[in-house]
Amino acid sequence: MAHRLFEEKHHASIYQKYRIIPPDTVLQLILEYLNKKKGPPHELAVDLGCGTGQNTRLLAPHFQKVVGIDVSECQLEQARAVPGFANVTYRSGPAEDLPFPDGSVDLLTAASAAHWFDAERFLKEAARVLKPHGCIALLGYSDEFSLYYGSCGDKLTNIYSEVTKVIKPYASPPVAIANSRLQDLFEAIPFPDKERVTNISLKMEMTVAGLVGFVESFSFCQAYLKEDPQAATALLESMMRRLQDEMGVSSPDTHLEFKTDFYCVLACKPQ
Ligand SMILES: C[S@@+](CC[C@H](N)C(=O)[O-])C[C@H]1O[C@@H](n2cnc3c(N)ncnc32)[C@H](O)[C@@H]1O
Repeated sequence: MAHRLFEEKHHASIYQKYRIIPPDTVLQLILEYLNKKKGPPHELAVDLGCGTGQNTRLLAPHFQKVVGIDVSECQLEQARAVPGFANVTYRSGPAEDLPFPDGSVDLLTAASAAHWFDAERFLKEAARVLKPHGCIALLGYSDEFSLYYGSCGDKLTNIYSEVTKVIKPYASPPVAIANSRLQDLFEAIPFPDKERVTNISLKMEMTVAGLVGFVESFSFCQAYLKEDPQAATALLESMMRRLQDEMGVSSPDTHLEFKTDFYCVLACKPQ
């Protein structure tokens, strides 16, 4: 049965606003892999567990057609509301039962989502829908962040670590699969041609409000908010206040930098 932790409207709107867009380095890694293994034409890419479509939209310039798939209607509603991507459509459904004919998909991606899938059923379905030499790319990033702002980066990183330590006990078991950078799922892929790229360490920018919103988007923060709304809200409010105090700024729109490790599991279906 699909995990249903991303169903609420408010959670979906936080996703749209605050989730990290996969960086160009990771997108290029995936496109180069597909070009090397299969080459053109790039007709159809399918982004599984697409959420509000951050990764789905990145694929749009590189394929004739891109389809985002998710079990959550609320997430899809947010994804569909983003204008300007004529070749992107969204469909509701599970990654384990895809609405595509055999041998019809060039690239299957899942961004921060594959750990929620039933591995055996998803991999069987992937092998069915991919064209010969079609590829799988499962990407994600560590929830361990280093923060940078002037000389107070270490203090900001400590605040972030303290907050995530409080909410991590609310994580459901699949989060551990993501934290392992999909080790078991990688091993379960039945294609002999596969690789797992880890530790793509990248520095990016976000605002203080963006960082707090990003933490709020975690499934385990949402679980904490459900279990103890007062304590969870107070934790997020104090995180915002403490970050701003350390930085000596009054605006939550102040930018800071963060560094985290991205990873990508890549695999190519045999002929
Ligand atoms: C952590 S979110 C990632 C969303 C988006 N890809 C991103 O990068 O922000 C995981 C998404 O996977 C979806 N999901 C979970 N299990 C699924 C399944 N079995 N099939 C399809 N989507 C699923 C959830 O509804 C949620 O939108």
